[in-house]
Amino acid sequence: MPEEFFGTGSVVQLRKILESEKPGKIFLVFGKGAYEKSGAEAALSQLLAGIDVFRFSDFEENPKIEDVRKGIEQFRSFEPDLVLACGGGSALDMAKSINVLAVQEGDPLDFVLKKKEIIRSPKPLVAVPTTAGTGAETTHFAVIYAGKTKYSLAHPFVSPKYSIVDPQFTFSLPAAITASTGMDALAQAIESFWSNKSTEESKGYAREAISLILPNLAVAVSAPTPEARGAMSKGAHVAGKAINISFTTACHAISYPITSYFGVPHGHAVALTLPGMILFNSEVDENTANDVRGLDYVKNMMQELLGLLGAEDAVVAKEKLERLMDDIGLERNLSKLGAGSAESRQLIVEHGFNPERVKNNPRILTAEALRFILKEIT
Ligand SMILES: [Fe+2]
Repeated sequence: MPEEFFGTGSVVQLRKILESEKPGKIFLVFGKGAYEKSGAEAALSQLLAGIDVFRFSDFEENPKIEDVRKGIEQFRSFEPDLVLACGGGSALDMAKSINVLAVQEGDPLDFVLKKKEIIRSPKPLVAVPTTAGTGAETTHFAVIYAGKTKYSLAHPFVSPKYSIVDPQFTFSLPAAITASTGMDALAQAIESFWSNKSTEESKGYAREAISLILPNLAVAVSAPTPEARGAMSKGAHVAGKAINISFTTACHAISYPITSYFGVPHGHAVALTLPGMILFNSEVDENTANDVRGLDYVKNMMQELLGLLGAEDAVVAKEKLERLMDDIGLERNLSKLGAGSAESRQLIVEHGFNPERVKNNPRILTAEALRFILKEIT
C-alpha cells in the first residue's frame, strides 16, 4: 500500500519524499497532453529543480508493450534512483510497468504472459494522477496491451511507493475526459462491491467511493466546482483501493475489446454494460449464484448496492445510471459507437470473456447472457 498524500496543494509533499529518498536522478513518465495543461508541469518543475530528470512521454493512450519496451531501454541507459509518474491511467500504468520490468532479466512480454516471475524489486515510484478515474496510483497491477489483447501485470512490486492525489490537477480536465474517467471510477466501485473477491475492507472503500462519486460526477462534468473535483479525486482514489483488493468483474472484462477494437475510451467502454449488468446481477437465483458466500449473501449484497445507488429496485438503478450517462454526454448505443453489427458484438463476446474477470462476477455470466446485454444497447 503506498504512502498517501491527499488534498489540494498536496503536491508540495513531493519535497518530503525527495528529502527522504534523496534521488540524484529521476525518470519522469508523463502523459503528453495532460502534463502542461493540468498545471502539474509548473508545480513539479519547481520541486524538481537541481535534480537530473529524464522525461519520457513517448507512448500512446492504453499502454502498449512496444511503448513499455521503449521506456525500458531509456530507463536502463539513464539508471534512475526514483520514478515519478504524472498523468492519467495510461501514464501511471506505463511508469509502473517500466519500473518493474526494467529491473527484471528477460523479455518483458514473458512477465506479462506469466511465463517468468517478477523477482527483483523496482525503484521507488511516486504516482501523481491528473484524472479522477483509474485509481492506478494505489493499485498493484498495470494494464498492458499486446496487439489487441489486454493483459494485467500484477505483483506487489507494481504498486507505487507513494501517491500524491492533488485534485487541483483535475480542475482543467475537459468534460469528456471527466465523464469517461469518472464512470470508470464509479464502475470500479460498483464492480468491487459485487466482486466475489470482495472483503469487508474492500466493501467499505467501495461504499465510500460510490457515495462520493454518485452525487458529484455530473457536477464535475457540466459545472465543476473545487468541491466536486475534490470529491471525484477522493472517490476515484478510494475506488482504486477497493479494486486493489477485490479486482474488477464483468463490465471491465467486456470493455477491453470495445476499447482495443473500436477505440472507445476505457471508462466509457466500461460504463456501456454497467446498467445492464446491475439488472442481470440482481436477477440472481440458486442456479446462477457464483459467490462462495451463497445466494442469500449475493441477494442481500445486491439489495444494499441498490440502496447505495439510491434506487428502490434494479430497474430504477439501471435507469438512473443510463440517465447519468446521458447527462454527462456518454453515448450508450453500440451502433453509434461503430460496434453495433452482429459481427462486432460477436468479436466483443469472443475477446471480452476473460475467465479471470468473469469469474469474479456474483452471477454466472454466460456468452448468451452477454450477447443479450450487448443486444439491448445496440
Ligand atoms: Fe477501469
